Amino acid sequence: MEKKLTVDVCLSPQMYSSHHREDAIVVVIDVLRATSAMCTAFHYGVDKMIPVATIEEATEYKKQGFMVGAERNGIALEGFDFGNSPFSYMTEKIKGQTIVISTTNGTQAIEAARDAYKVVIGAFTNITALCDWLVAQNRSVIMLCSGWKNRFSWEDSMFAGAVVKRLLKAGLYKTGDAAIAMSFLFDESQKNQIKFLRNSSHAERLAAMGLKKDIKYCFQMDLTDVIPVLEGKYLVKLV
Ligand code: MLT
Repeated sequence: MEKKLTVDVCLSPQMYSSHHREDAIVVVIDVLRATSAMCTAFHYGVDKMIPVATIEEATEYKKQGFMVGAERNGIALEGFDFGNSPFSYMTEKIKGQTIVISTTNGTQAIEAARDAYKVVIGAFTNITALCDWLVAQNRSVIMLCSGWKNRFSWEDSMFAGAVVKRLLKAGLYKTGDAAIAMSFLFDESQKNQIKFLRNSSHAERLAAMGLKKDIKYCFQMDLTDVIPVLEGKYLVKLV
């Protein structure tokens, strides 16, 4: 039987328009660290998040009294409540709250895919829940890597490859060149993840800032079943 569904990988937000399919679910990936932080925030009880692309929007929400996470180039911006470390969202004070978030790449990728059929958030920390849910939807899937300032990133591509591998096992999808290449990349990375990660410029950047703890956390699988989904301007927990 001919397979009608596709799973593909878009390696940068700038390339999204050439991957867009009206009927496809888009998984936004920013393993280090935006999408890992978002999954953590929902796991720890945040009610909604508002992802915004610019610091100006984040500042406007802050003035209105919202709690706001703001990060640029890996650094938490002064005058806001959170940065982009998943650990900063492991707190009682986020329970039941709506938190605004703006990051260097992750929220830009969400912005690029805003008009997709559905946008969900993926990270190693929710990989099994995400893959099970994707297979159950019977829809085409685009894995959208946030990358670094519109450039390729190892960790996002590697995660996309991990998801592609799991989805292909379901036998429902045709795939594209980038998806196959990223699944090879994931296989290769499994031989020695630590050595492999030395190729990641963002892991190197975070390590230089003393954030090795964040890197380790973001590569743990299945810490949560939560799948954040975009509904209008809000990310909410998929039920
Ligand atoms: C991003 O959105 O660009 C990243 O999450 C940056 C970071 O690790 O803080």
